[in-house]
Amino acid sequence: MNTKSHMPLTNSLICFIFLSSFVYGQLDYKYYDATCPNLTKIVRYGIWSAISNETRMAASLLRLHFHDCFVNGCDGSVLLDDTSTFTGEKNASANRNSARGFEVIDTIKANVEKACPSTVSCADILTLAAREAIYLTGGPYWSVSLGRRDSLTASQSAANAQIPSPFEPLENITAKFVSKGLDVKDVVVLSGAHTIGFAQCFTFKQRLFDFDGSGNPDPTLDSSLLGNLRSVCPNQSDSDSNLAPLDAVTINKFDNVYFKNLMNNSGLLQSDQALMNDNNTASMVSTYSKYPYLFSKAFAASMVKLTNLGVLTGQDGEIRKNCRLVN
Ligand code: HEM
Repeated sequence: MNTKSHMPLTNSLICFIFLSSFVYGQLDYKYYDATCPNLTKIVRYGIWSAISNETRMAASLLRLHFHDCFVNGCDGSVLLDDTSTFTGEKNASANRNSARGFEVIDTIKANVEKACPSTVSCADILTLAAREAIYLTGGPYWSVSLGRRDSLTASQSAANAQIPSPFEPLENITAKFVSKGLDVKDVVVLSGAHTIGFAQCFTFKQRLFDFDGSGNPDPTLDSSLLGNLRSVCPNQSDSDSNLAPLDAVTINKFDNVYFKNLMNNSGLLQSDQALMNDNNTASMVSTYSKYPYLFSKAFAASMVKLTNLGVLTGQDGEIRKNCRLVN
């Protein structure tokens, strides 16, 4: 057979595949290899220095990424400041006085802009930041495909509607995940993110004093944890913003102790402990409490699903120069 006669066909095929990745805008592990080869190093250094300054920042950045992806996709919308034309997500109920890490992303973005101007999206920077933060905190590492573009707008009402609340039943939380293309396993696995970071007292205080209007504490809350939490969060409104660790045993380490805590009635949020009230989710909790490696592997897999939700690619959106503002 004459192989030469096939060359033009092969060339056109390669050309088609190459061009279609621009036209259809696929994410790609090597997306910035030619245009911003030091990207990962810049993000890694930025995260390392932020965490060296404040360990909690790893948790805050992971949550910021989750809140970005859950509201109209991973498009950097959570990073936008309010403007005269839209009210953004920063002041939505789950984020106001709660979402953190914006300055860390600003610093990394400024360094990325110096190395490769107008090339890397804020959405990709936040995605890489979350991955690096978890890895540096002892968690798994996963490959991140890149090429997300930044949104041109943000929506406070979408954030209010789509981000799960710790006060809603597990069925509602699961329904929110399912509506994004995730499943109940992702709910359990990603809730394992609560192995690091802190929550303000108002997010769980009714469990300590007046559970479901009973005038008594939540009977499923371990009594020694109850005592500790009552001292951090006394029954008065000025304790609302005091902080308690989501996993009081290994506060800053990304491990499977969150699941061990749930097995011991020591979940902090009602929505955490609720995973034990359903046979299916409780059995997953039990598995992850026993097998840290399975949790680690599952967390990486669910994170990849989360980071690919509703991304803008190709010609959609833009590459913001400043993560807080549309160009
Ligand atoms: C399943 C439904 C979820 C609910 C109801 C929920 C709720 C909450 C609440 C109420 C807080 C405390 C916020 C504050 O007091 O200011 C919190 C913190 C946190 N959440 Fe979630 N969350 C959920 C899922 C997730 C997921 C999927 C992730 C990441 C993959 C995540 C990561 C975090 C982290 C790391 C913190 C600590 C943040 C910090 O210390 O700054 N959460 N979450």
